[in-house]
Amino acid sequence: MTSQERILQLRNELHAHNHRYYVKNAPIISDREFDELLAELVRLEAEHPELYDPNSPTQRVGSDISEEFTQIDHTYPMLSLGNTYSREEVGAWYSRVADLLGHAPFEVCCELKFDGLGISLVYENRRLLHAVTRGDGLRGDDVTRGIRTIRTIPLTLPAEAPEYLEIRGEVLMPWERFDRLNRLREQRGEPLFANPRNAASGTLKSKSSNVVAERGLDAYLYYLPGNGLPADSHYANMQAARHWGFKVSEATALARSLDDIYTYIDRWNEERHRLPVATDGIVLKVDSLRQQEQLGYTAKSPRWAIAYKFPAERVLTRLEAVTYQVGRTGAVTPVANMQPVQLAGTVVRRASLHNEDIIRGLDLRLGDYVYVEKAGEIIPQIVGVETSKRDASTGPHVEFIKTCPECGTPLVRYDDEAAHYCPGENCPPQLKGRIEHFISRDCMNIESLGPETIGDYFDRGLIRDAADLYGLTLADLAGPDRSREKSARKVIEGLRRSAAETPFENVLFALGIRFVGKATAKTIARAFRSIERLQAATAEELAAVPGVGKVIAQSVTAYFADTINGTLVERLRQAGLQMAVTEAETAPLSSRLAGKTIVISGTFEHHSRDEYKQLIERHGGKNVGSISKKTSFVLAGSDMGPAKREKAAALGVPLVDEDAFLSLLEE
Ligand code: IVH
Repeated sequence: MTSQERILQLRNELHAHNHRYYVKNAPIISDREFDELLAELVRLEAEHPELYDPNSPTQRVGSDISEEFTQIDHTYPMLSLGNTYSREEVGAWYSRVADLLGHAPFEVCCELKFDGLGISLVYENRRLLHAVTRGDGLRGDDVTRGIRTIRTIPLTLPAEAPEYLEIRGEVLMPWERFDRLNRLREQRGEPLFANPRNAASGTLKSKSSNVVAERGLDAYLYYLPGNGLPADSHYANMQAARHWGFKVSEATALARSLDDIYTYIDRWNEERHRLPVATDGIVLKVDSLRQQEQLGYTAKSPRWAIAYKFPAERVLTRLEAVTYQVGRTGAVTPVANMQPVQLAGTVVRRASLHNEDIIRGLDLRLGDYVYVEKAGEIIPQIVGVETSKRDASTGPHVEFIKTCPECGTPLVRYDDEAAHYCPGENCPPQLKGRIEHFISRDCMNIESLGPETIGDYFDRGLIRDAADLYGLTLADLAGPDRSREKSARKVIEGLRRSAAETPFENVLFALGIRFVGKATAKTIARAFRSIERLQAATAEELAAVPGVGKVIAQSVTAYFADTINGTLVERLRQAGLQMAVTEAETAPLSSRLAGKTIVISGTFEHHSRDEYKQLIERHGGKNVGSISKKTSFVLAGSDMGPAKREKAAALGVPLVDEDAFLSLLEE
């Protein structure tokens, strides 16, 4: 068997195993055997980059290549559904449909309304071509890379499936993953996601498909727009889609009468609390495609379908106290502590009050009876006060605190913000938070350390800032009886390795300069190349760098103007951290592109535009902005604009696609 044949065989086998595991929940090989097959495929693919396939099971693991989202037009607009909130409204819809169909018999497909992020998947030649968010209904974001990591979404379809297929559904974060993620974020002092929908959307919009792969998203499919489907019945077509490998909810059922529909609603209003994912209602669809066509659409939504939203659950309980939490950024959040009460399947004790304005808006007093609601939001909200229950035992108005509950520093509230901040320089949660950020994966990536360990070292007085980490000794960490010697060695080795190996751009991000995110840190690192030059830069010089801007520039100069930060940077340098872009990162790779002038256009799969720019330069070429007679070729990604295409054609400038370009460099 040739390597190529083996690669294809492995891809097919792994696709089948994935499907058995993730969709059918019935694997026939062990995880270990699966990992071995996958490892073999990874190795073979690395040896044969020319056989790269974005749909290979190896691509499920995600990568760190960043991408800007591009927009893709929907073939059919992604409409929304009309909402109803009562049986009466559902009944009214049902009789309207009956009237419009001239009282011909019809069936209604009843489905759960999944509370996630609408997505449209397009398959061409039975391979996933792209995945697009709803966007404005006409065009959405191309989120194909992230979507590929969702294991319940097939990357290729079996021969029975149509050659071209568009299928729509919902991307969701299961409750269990959502709870886990929020627990982690709480430990790290990061803001919590309000509900699984926001978490799913935040995850999918994350630039790193590694993040998407890790967070365990799932997807249910529920709609096939377009023609050429096997049956006239929506229900039957969705069953076919299940056979093609898609996850279609088992809760889907056909109703022959309005009573059937009511029974379905009552059943799922109860049972939905036991589902692994969030739902916020029921969707009713006239089952026959022919009848759907007959009913047609209003400007915004189909007449043949409607959503019934589950009522929000609400209870009355007593406000006992308001406490305050200080996050890593110093933001102070008021929290209502209430008499514990049962709500939508969980006991509720606390609710965020968000900020001072919300407290004022509610006219909240201690001891008040408050209405607590959980709608789509998993985090309960106080939606109102029952003023008729106020009596002599009701306390005074809730007044926002004036000083930080952690360090006593007077709080500040900036003009255009609702939040209060603690400006304290020695505020423990902020100090801890900065160190937690410093060690995190996108920063110094110190694997042997986590937020709990940082909290522990901090509380034991071993560290106050990031540079203190490098002064830790085995004796500090192993404990008096040396019982933790093994993990202590790991920590020290992890610190040493991270210091030696982490590139300057990550170090810069790790410093936690306000407004300097991961991408900005990279831009700044490449533009100034060393910390000395960056420290010497004026705000004007910084703002002149594309992608930096005034606000960031001022924040950077303010950071370095503060001597505390200067000292920190100096101590980090002495600890051996990289304070400049190294030779190896920028050294020439070849002279294959010497004398070539290259224009980059469109979007790319394997590297970002910025990375291609670096590659061109490191291979001796020159990257320029616009096409002219002198252009050697255009490195053309997908979605290259028609104007550019025409210009290149008119000037006889060839287009080289991404794969061809990469093989050119490898030759
Ligand atoms: S069908 C033309 N079915 O609800 C009809 N939508 O407001 C296309 N949704 O944007 C939608 N569960 O994101 C349909 N079983 C289901 C659904 C569902 C959730 C979402 C979807 C849509 C929104 C409608």
